[in-house]
Amino acid sequence: MTKPLRDIAVSQLTEKQAKEELAALSKEIAAHDIAYHQNDSPDINDAEYDYLRERNGELELLFPNLARTDSPNKRVGAAPARGFRKIVHAAPMLSLGNAFKDDDVKEFIRSIQRFLKLGFDENIEVTAEPKIDGVSFSARYENGKLTTAATRGDGTIGEDITANLKTINTLPQVIANNAPALIEVRGEVYMSKDDFQKMNESHERKGLKLFSNPRNAAAGSLRQLDPTVTAERPLQIFCYAYGALEGVEWKTHWDFLMQLEKWGFPVNDRTTRGNTIDEMLDAYRALGAERSTLPYDIDGIVYKINRKDFQDRLGLISRSPRWAVAHKYSAQQVETTIEKIEVQVGRTGVLTPVAHLTPVTVGGVVITRATLHNEDEIIRKDIRVGDSVKIQRAGDVIPQISETIAIKRQGNSVPYPFPSNCPVCGSLAVRKEGESARRCTGGLICPAQAVQRLKHFVSRDAFDIDGLGSKHIEAFFADNTISNPADIFTLEDRDRTFSTPMREREGWGSKSVENLFATINSRRSVTLERFIYALGIRQIGQSTARLLAQSYGTYENWCDAMVDAQNKESEAYQDLINIEAIGELVAADLIAFFTEEHNRNVLKTLSDQVIIISAVQSEILSSPISGKTIVFTGTFETMSRGEAKAQAQNLGAKVASSVSKKTDIVVTGPGAGSKLTKARDYGVKVMTEAQYIDFIKS
Ligand code: IVH
Repeated sequence: MTKPLRDIAVSQLTEKQAKEELAALSKEIAAHDIAYHQNDSPDINDAEYDYLRERNGELELLFPNLARTDSPNKRVGAAPARGFRKIVHAAPMLSLGNAFKDDDVKEFIRSIQRFLKLGFDENIEVTAEPKIDGVSFSARYENGKLTTAATRGDGTIGEDITANLKTINTLPQVIANNAPALIEVRGEVYMSKDDFQKMNESHERKGLKLFSNPRNAAAGSLRQLDPTVTAERPLQIFCYAYGALEGVEWKTHWDFLMQLEKWGFPVNDRTTRGNTIDEMLDAYRALGAERSTLPYDIDGIVYKINRKDFQDRLGLISRSPRWAVAHKYSAQQVETTIEKIEVQVGRTGVLTPVAHLTPVTVGGVVITRATLHNEDEIIRKDIRVGDSVKIQRAGDVIPQISETIAIKRQGNSVPYPFPSNCPVCGSLAVRKEGESARRCTGGLICPAQAVQRLKHFVSRDAFDIDGLGSKHIEAFFADNTISNPADIFTLEDRDRTFSTPMREREGWGSKSVENLFATINSRRSVTLERFIYALGIRQIGQSTARLLAQSYGTYENWCDAMVDAQNKESEAYQDLINIEAIGELVAADLIAFFTEEHNRNVLKTLSDQVIIISAVQSEILSSPISGKTIVFTGTFETMSRGEAKAQAQNLGAKVASSVSKKTDIVVTGPGAGSKLTKARDYGVKVMTEAQYIDFIKS
């Protein structure tokens, strides 16, 4: 018997099936929307509805060319009353690399000159814009009409805030003149310092929730399920970027900003242009001098390479454009006292000392703790309990102690004795040679590590289960309700057998338990890269997880390869260390994870509970080098090796640093040495730079 389409994992559907399924989903979701919004009588529950929406979103991600014009993702429904729907951004929302010192800015320009093969004496025009400390949004206009608006989310999928954003009256609802077929206008929602103050005062009078700073106030006001609440909040916007675009283009970023202004979008009037590093740094200092008197919070200045053709060539590094950087302002400093030092144990056993402080306010935020980083930092700064210290806070970064104020030290204080045992499980804590961290050796028996792994598992960039906060995880771990990730997904079933059901536990009620189960159920399908990241394997952050997902495609492939890679002579091991950015040390941590029986059990029980969506398979991309492994060697004439590499990756190829049997193409320039010989030995296709460029255009 054949399985119904609905029961087949998104990643396993053929193109034909995907098309059929998208049509069915569009029709069903539309019917449910009518039942819910117009007839006020929903015919399925929220979790089922969310599942349909998510399946639709995942299909559109995997098969972008099949996305329907009547896609549920593009429809503006009535008020989003069931929590926020997800919106897939037509072009991902990017983040920015940071520069802190003048030298970082110089290096930013130099690296661009190198990448573009320009001389160091050739000026490049750069725009400088205030970096608004707010919440980013993307507003989609089709033929001039505002259709949807979304938060950044994880950059790929955001939350639908159309109704909320429409309450901000400086955002044009239509583009009246020369509207392109499509544009995603991007910018920042913020609250002015004055409005923030006034709002908090009025909230205080009414006994309502207070916000700790203008940024949080803007975020909280925007993420209201009821848009009439948002409408009452004094929100403003600045626009500064675009995502997907059809039917219009600009030669420079500046031209784009001018057009935005003509269309009526608020553009920051402190934006300037410059041609030299000195001009950029002048703009930074001038704005810095105005910072405290500006009506809104800024945390830096954003430099963008003005020319669009340069931007295109420069492309991305991971999720940030290579053509832009945020030059941050340094943080404000405030004095306080260290009341005690606590040592916390992280997910991988690292002991991190944290200072508990007499509460102080820095830039509108109350600070009670600061990280002390590690043992050496405490020794280097000779930080002691009772010391007067200066603390600083930069953006969302955890507050740090910038200096101890020696003349105010208490006479009887002693140097802080860093523990040599784990404060939670008592196991020996050791420091390997050359490492700054001291680690608990308790591994799987250390409850602190287990709890941290669970917190990581539910965190925003992992499974994103926002109903399960740190406090909940700690409590559920302590009473054995949740001991490993799979337990989260069996919680609803097990709840029926608990002597004290969840809704009767302290801090919970029927509604919050129902919401939690709905969130958990909506997270039962997860992309392979999130899944890998969520496991919390040492050294496997988001970008490495993404590389692994892209390289192995499916969960099964990845697991098989990791098990095979235990043998260092195997091809699987060679393949693993051939992946860019995975060296022998990272490989060792991955393999160690798979050698542990406990971890294999976690994988087994967890993969029974969730659907793991395969990474976009290279077959889907249709460039001539998509899915191919390429090695570049020698020097090139028309582009730097960095640019060649980035371009190949954008076209779906894998770029390796050494030639193996698996290499498909070796591109050689003058000076190619042993790699060329090796390519001939293996019978790998060899191309010159010119042949290669013709080939990728074919
Ligand atoms: S450009 C194309 N410009 O900063 C790159 N971002 O740290 C996308 N931000 O997510 C960002 N002011 O929320 C850009 N003038 C500005 C900005 C700005 C504030 C925020 C934005 C972004 C974050 C990155």
